[in-house]
Amino acid sequence: MIPFDVYPLQPITPIKAQGCYVWDDKGNRYLDLYGGHAVISIGHSQPEFVQAITQQTGTMGFYSNSVQNPVQVAMAKKLGELSGYEDYQLFMINSGAEAVENAIKLASFQTGKQKVISITKGFHGRTSLALGVTDNPKLSAPVNTVHNTVFIEMEDVDALETALAKNDVAAVIIEGIQGIAGIYEPSVSFLQSIQTLCKTYGALFIADEIQSGYGRTGKFFAHQYANVKPDLITVAKGMGNGFPIGGVLISPEIKPYYGMLGTTFGGTHLGSAAGLAVLNVLESENLIENANQVGDYLLSELNKLEAVEVRGRGLMIGVEFSYPIKELRKTLLEDHKIFTGVASNPHVIRVLPPLSLSMEQALYFLESLKSTIKKAKKHEAVSIH
Ligand SMILES: Cc1ncc(COP(=O)(O)O)c(C=O)c1O
Repeated sequence: MIPFDVYPLQPITPIKAQGCYVWDDKGNRYLDLYGGHAVISIGHSQPEFVQAITQQTGTMGFYSNSVQNPVQVAMAKKLGELSGYEDYQLFMINSGAEAVENAIKLASFQTGKQKVISITKGFHGRTSLALGVTDNPKLSAPVNTVHNTVFIEMEDVDALETALAKNDVAAVIIEGIQGIAGIYEPSVSFLQSIQTLCKTYGALFIADEIQSGYGRTGKFFAHQYANVKPDLITVAKGMGNGFPIGGVLISPEIKPYYGMLGTTFGGTHLGSAAGLAVLNVLESENLIENANQVGDYLLSELNKLEAVEVRGRGLMIGVEFSYPIKELRKTLLEDHKIFTGVASNPHVIRVLPPLSLSMEQALYFLESLKSTIKKAKKHEAVSIH
């Protein structure tokens, strides 16, 4: 048997990782500005994280959700403290798409309504409800035929109100910062309008913080820059630093009942230990503050380069060029041993490193990018002749 060939692969084979670096099978070291798709939050193979999951798996890795689980309770408490959502409830699952799936279900249970408003270019995952609110028809199979989503453009408050006024909307879902699209941030006033209009028309506000959450933008959640409090917040990726966990933070207004949601693997002892270790390290190593400082520095320096636009916050950055970034990214990888991410917009490189990225590593990236841009310009000049 061979792996199902659905991913275009990079020409390298990483076999070892530590902090912000990965090593390939030939011993080359790469600076990881991709974080395994925004997943590595506290750094690769972080010692406390490794110790926590090793210890937990040797003590009690798994029992079902039908018994009390003090590790899950401790993880939820810590998440409440660090995020500022102490009064919220947590439902744990295993992935981002599942978090979105359950958040939409909860909104529908709570309101009794069926429609969802989502934002164009957004990405929320590949299970059915998550795909339904994802603006990319190419990802849908013929079975995904039920369309209960109204897509509106980011910042279009009139369209938002028109759709909500029909009174059949269970939820409005929006990414804290749109990631896969190419790093597009909603304005403070747009997020505040979503909050106000959702209250007016009896819909719930879902913030998808799967990519932008867990300190990546320099605050625990990106929406906290807008001073709003969504009813439901989805998390995954950085939550487990590579251990597959996800969660929905649920407002106290939403009351649970037995059987409402369920899962076999969500919130296991092992998964909860991984999640708790991530939170402890985020706190003890001041990684959110680090994301803020190193991110601010990177953003201001990147703005001095010849790019069309630099977007983002903290260590969630998109740099848009006037040309497709394929060659530029290849040069960064081959000549400078730096991994970067792509976006749906082919002119954008995405920078999503572990939150422990140091100033020196940021500087190395800036110098490498400058020389890569110079090389790209030379090529351009040669190909014009
Ligand atoms: C904003 C956002 N939501 C949801 C998802 C889906 O997460 P997963 O791939 O864990 O299902 C992603 C994944 O990239 C994402 O970026």
